[in-house]
Amino acid sequence: MHEMRTQVAGVPVAAPVAPIRAAFAEDAVGKTLGIRGWVLRARSSGGILFLVVRDRTGSVQVTAKRDAVGEAAFAAAEHAQAEGLVAVSGAVALDKRAPGGREIRAEAIEVLHAGEPFPIFADQTEEFRLDKRHLAIRSQEFVAVFRVKAEVLRALRAFLEREEVLETTPPIITGNAAEGGAEAFQFDYFGRPGYLSQTAQLYLEALLFPHERVYAITPSFRAEKSRTPRHITEFTHIEVELAWTDLEELLVFIERMLTETLHEVARRSASDLALLGRDPKELSGLAAPFPRMTYAEAIDRLQRQGFRVEWGSDLATAEERALTLEAKAPIFVTRFPYSLKAFYMRRSPNDPRTVEAADLLGPEGYGEIIGASERELDIARLTERLREIGANPNDYEWYFDLRRHGNVPHSGFGMGIERLVRWVTRREHIRDATPFPRTPSRHLP
Ligand code: 4AD
Ligand code: MG
Repeated sequence: MHEMRTQVAGVPVAAPVAPIRAAFAEDAVGKTLGIRGWVLRARSSGGILFLVVRDRTGSVQVTAKRDAVGEAAFAAAEHAQAEGLVAVSGAVALDKRAPGGREIRAEAIEVLHAGEPFPIFADQTEEFRLDKRHLAIRSQEFVAVFRVKAEVLRALRAFLEREEVLETTPPIITGNAAEGGAEAFQFDYFGRPGYLSQTAQLYLEALLFPHERVYAITPSFRAEKSRTPRHITEFTHIEVELAWTDLEELLVFIERMLTETLHEVARRSASDLALLGRDPKELSGLAAPFPRMTYAEAIDRLQRQGFRVEWGSDLATAEERALTLEAKAPIFVTRFPYSLKAFYMRRSPNDPRTVEAADLLGPEGYGEIIGASERELDIARLTERLREIGANPNDYEWYFDLRRHGNVPHSGFGMGIERLVRWVTRREHIRDATPFPRTPSRHLP
């Protein structure tokens, strides 16, 4: 490894090193700035080298002339590849042709690592880009997506803190396959079956008794072979569980969470969103209440659109897409059939064919982003439902204990962060909402 020098031939290359955004400060023009970063692109014209250099704060054009930087430094700079590492110092100047209208006129330039030819460029196959994902994530688009994702997580945590919901740390290794055995990744846990968590819900339900309002952000795993633009086998799950809350109150909580979060994201990530083709106004304009539709209405609409579905059919990716394609705001679908949903959802007291649950579908065709429900409190009903789905109720004895001691009404939901980010950043495929996507055909790099 090379040593990071701050001096080149006695010239202070980066003393002090400034973030590249400093070149765009109001009073920067005429001042000498030291920067360091990666070469975004380079070209030479008329004996002048033009480099666009980026760091985490932005990018700026650097112009280098042989007589200003010296023969040796100039020759080295000519060999810096895209993604090569450089340090530059020079005066900030106005230049209409430069991106952002400014450039740094190099007085000294040092190539810290010229690099090999960067293997990623336009018109390569998606498979190749996925093979080179560890390098592809350097693109401006990915940088913007993952900054928005960080902002989404930050704003969600801030909302939950304002609401006095406690962040907790449920386990990932578990002996229960909570959302159904077929879709759980199983492994050998010292001679017994272990599973990777599909949901933290059951543990959040336990944690709710001492804390009343709890949440967790954990990886969840689904061994689904589904090759759709909205399924990955590992996703970031934010789950909330609230005591003394029925489904109606939960849906109002979700509306507030999403509107407050996305308003904040629209404000704080405006330029990243714009780069990704999302007008921040589409997020800042979101308002509660979100439109609602019952499952029966959804089936009716789909039938009229020619889908072969009937009451009791699960909504597939194409159907959720059709339901939400024209929508500008998310839509709650309510009153799902009991037979379609998980064992822990409360049977509707006034219609036992349905459960007290709702899915929130993202607009513009994106489909389900949240699954929410009131929780079943009755051990006999839980047992019956577990038997129906082929699970062994004995494995859930610990969960039934919760219903034996201060059985409090409660509700909760789970939201896939990548599903939300896919919608917010307008990604075609959910894999582009996570840096290293896991799908049935890929777990490398
Ligand atoms: O609807 P799901 O399966 O619900 C649960 O797991 C509940 N136990 C959550 C709870 O109430 N605490 O999953 C919740 C959300 C979905 O709405 C979706 O956003 C996301 O998790 N999700 C996935 N995201 C990406 N890829 C997958 N394969 C996903 N499966 C679920
Ligand atoms: Mg669901």
